[in-house]
Amino acid sequence: MRRLPPVLLEDGCSRELLSLIRTILAACKEISFRVGQGALSGVLGSTLDENIQGETQKKLDVLSNQLLKDILLESGTVKAIASEEEDYTVAGNPDAKFIVAFDPLDGSSNTDINSLVGTIFSIMEAPAGSDAADQSIFMQPGHKQVAAGYVLYGPSTMLALTTGKGTRMFTLDKTQGSFLLTQDFAEIPADTNEFAINTSNQRHWQPAMQNYINDLLAGDTGPRAKNFNMRWIAAMVGDVHRVLSRGGLFTYPTDTKDPKKPNKLRLLYEANPMAMLVEQAGGIASTGTERIMDIQPDAIHQRVAVILGSKNEVETCLGYHK
Ligand code: F6P
Ligand code: MN
Repeated sequence: MRRLPPVLLEDGCSRELLSLIRTILAACKEISFRVGQGALSGVLGSTLDENIQGETQKKLDVLSNQLLKDILLESGTVKAIASEEEDYTVAGNPDAKFIVAFDPLDGSSNTDINSLVGTIFSIMEAPAGSDAADQSIFMQPGHKQVAAGYVLYGPSTMLALTTGKGTRMFTLDKTQGSFLLTQDFAEIPADTNEFAINTSNQRHWQPAMQNYINDLLAGDTGPRAKNFNMRWIAAMVGDVHRVLSRGGLFTYPTDTKDPKKPNKLRLLYEANPMAMLVEQAGGIASTGTERIMDIQPDAIHQRVAVILGSKNEVETCLGYHK
């Protein structure tokens, strides 16, 4: 099986970008080890702190953030980082070319139940001549990403990665510490009978999503004339991995549960990298009204509605939004 560096170099990935990706993966291997140790590593449970978004931080959120932050800033390969667990961006090497936005441990409420979690990352180039401390260097639409990926800490540790030439899957061989290519080009089937949404929010959704989901639930007795199955892992990284592996529609739509927070998922380090992976595998990623990767961000922790996955099913869902 092939290791990651030669696969990426053959694709024309620069040594600089490869080095940055390998730096991220070095931190992820350490996170994988800690997550795998579970209760033995003494890092399950919550801290007494909240992040800037008002979410209680898990000990593993803080640890994963620190590992990624330290290794990235020490490597000299990044100009600045933005993280779910950092209030503001953090400046790195002023002469470096790349900036990285990441969710250090997505789905962290799953850590305490020994269920799926993962690290999501998005890599962009800093604008020429920009200041490393300037937050606005991250205000670029997702189609500017030069690479995106996630590392899923499941029964096996897997990397999904794109540098704009398809989406590939690698599996961490823990006996030697390398990510080995296990699926060359992921292709999301255009049709599906599986969807993922947190239905406990149903009464708060907008009419378009209410109508779409009602029609799925009506199964072969409804207008879709076929039965659908539902899955919800409560970690975007796990749900998107299933969609990349066997198709499906994943959505976290706009809702009115908390008027101050109509959307849940963050654009820069959740929606954008997942959108790039999904599009590179033949799927679609939209907010319901526009392509996720065309959104011009205006804040580091900006949130967006997300509907992504199998092309034909997402298009059907978007039809309800017209
Ligand atoms: O990071 C936000 C997140 O944890 C996603 O990974 C996941 O899809 C979603 O929130 C779960 O939301 P809920 O708790 O509403 O099911
Ligand atoms: Mn997350």
